[in-house]
Parts: sequence; structure tokens; C-alpha cells
Amino acid sequence: MVEPLISVRGLKVALPDMTRKPMIGRAPLAEILKGLDFDLPKGSVTGIVGESGSGKSTLGRALVRLIEPSAGSIGFEGRDISRLSETELRPLRRDLQMIFQDPMSSLNPRHTIFNIIAAPLRQNGLGDRLKERVAEALQRVGLPQSFASRYRHELSGGQRQRVGIARALALSPKFVLADEIVSGLDVSTQAQILTLLEKRRPPREIRGRAGSNPSLFQGSCRVSQSSTISPRETASRNFSRRDKSSINAD
Ligand SMILES: Nc1ncnc2c1ncn2[C@@H]1O[C@H](COP(=O)(O)OP(=O)(O)O)[C@@H](O)[C@H]1O
Ligand SMILES: [Mg+2]
Repeated sequence: MVEPLISVRGLKVALPDMTRKPMIGRAPLAEILKGLDFDLPKGSVTGIVGESGSGKSTLGRALVRLIEPSAGSIGFEGRDISRLSETELRPLRRDLQMIFQDPMSSLNPRHTIFNIIAAPLRQNGLGDRLKERVAEALQRVGLPQSFASRYRHELSGGQRQRVGIARALALSPKFVLADEIVSGLDVSTQAQILTLLEKRRPPREIRGRAGSNPSLFQGSCRVSQSSTISPRETASRNFSRRDKSSINAD
């Protein structure tokens, strides 16, 4: 059997619930993800479906290890990365990329577009041929080279989102999590951006079964505590392009 790129088992994520924080002491933890199991094969495109607040972004942040799971494991190319320290994660950062929903907050307002795209290249040992790499990245997302010297506020929403995509793809990552990256854009720009990302392989939908115990994630995402989201449960005809949240860039 071919090893999956990402393999998730019993994944739970709990975050401090600031709405219930006492005057003194720590906020109690609220469990956002209550036990997920699924595999993401290499070279596939997978959508995460669920309404607002169901835990899609939390799942995304856990998969690229911006947050640490409270239980369970995340396998990346066969290696459990769920408990790795920041230092241990550093060599993997290049391959685990996330494109954020809101480029206004994910792009540094004080840096030029060149520097925004160049910074992760430098950090990940790709600092040679920087000009060439940034030029390639801009070209790939259909932005003119002159944009390299611009700032975030000098771009339209769609152009900003293209910069976010360029920054992630410039690293040639093995896994890209695109977190509702077109939800803030007008329909024609959405179409352009999705076309940009589209691969020849059709997107698959992952969908779990509803369980008897409603939970935050389960209730709206139809994923229950004990359910398994597996490729066998695909229903691509129901797949909505707007919901495409995860792109495994191979
Ligand atoms: N940093 C955080 N601390 C505590 N709760 C959070 C945090 N981030 C998100 N949440 C809560 O977790 C739930 C899932 O959020 P999120 O993953 O952003 O959902 P989605 O992306 O599906 O809209 C929401 O109820 C949200 O309020
Ligand atoms: Mg979200």
C-alpha cells in the first residue's frame, strides 16, 4: 500500500476558552476537535466541509503544526509530527504550508511583496537566486513583476490573496492547506484563484458520519467523535469549490 502523505489518528485539539476564564488562573480548555481519523494520499486535493465555527481552521492549524494536538497523532510521510518541538519542526516547515483566509492580517504591512515572498525562502535554505525565485512565484500567480516593490495596501483583495499563494507555493511544499482563501473575494476573482490552484485531479470530499453525541465539530461538520473520514466516503458531486480548504500540492 502506498504510504499516505498525512495520516491522522484520534486527533483532538483543545484550546483555552477565554469566555470562561476566571478572574485568577487559567482559562479552562474547550475541546474543538474531538477525535478525527483520516488519511490524505499523496498528490490529492481534499476539501474540508463544515460551517463557520466547526473547527476547519483549527484542524488546518493542527495539520501544519501551528498548534499542538492535545491527543492523537499526525503522521507526515510516516513520521509522527504531533509532538515535535519548534526546533524539530523547523526542517519540516517548508513542506507544511498554510495559505490564510485573510491576507490583510497574514501579510506584513511594512514589508514589500518581494520581502514577503523572499523571507520564507531565506529561512528555508532557498536564499540563493532570490530575485529569480520571487519573479517565478509572482509569475505563477499571474502578478506583474513590478508588484515586487509594492506594499500590501497597494493591492486589491484578489491580488493580496495571490501574494499569499505565491509565498506558500514558492517553497514547493509537499502539503498546502488553503483556508477558505477565496471566501472574501468577488465571484470572478474567486474563479481566477481557484483556476490557478486547480490540478488535473478532481477534488475529493471528505465527510464523516454524524454520531449520537453532538459536538462542536461533529454537529456542523458531520464528523463524530468516533467517526472516520476516509477516502471511501467520498462524494465529489456534492463538492463545492468554495469549501475547498486543503490542497495537497504533492
Ligand atoms: N485560539 C482559540 N482559542 C479558543 N477557541 C478558539 C480559538 N480559535 C478558534 N476557537 C473556537 O474554536 C471553534 C472552531 O473555530 P475555527 O477552527 O476557527 O472554525 P472554522 O474555521 O470552521 O470556522 C470556534 O468555536 C472558535 O470560537
Ligand atoms: Mg476558519
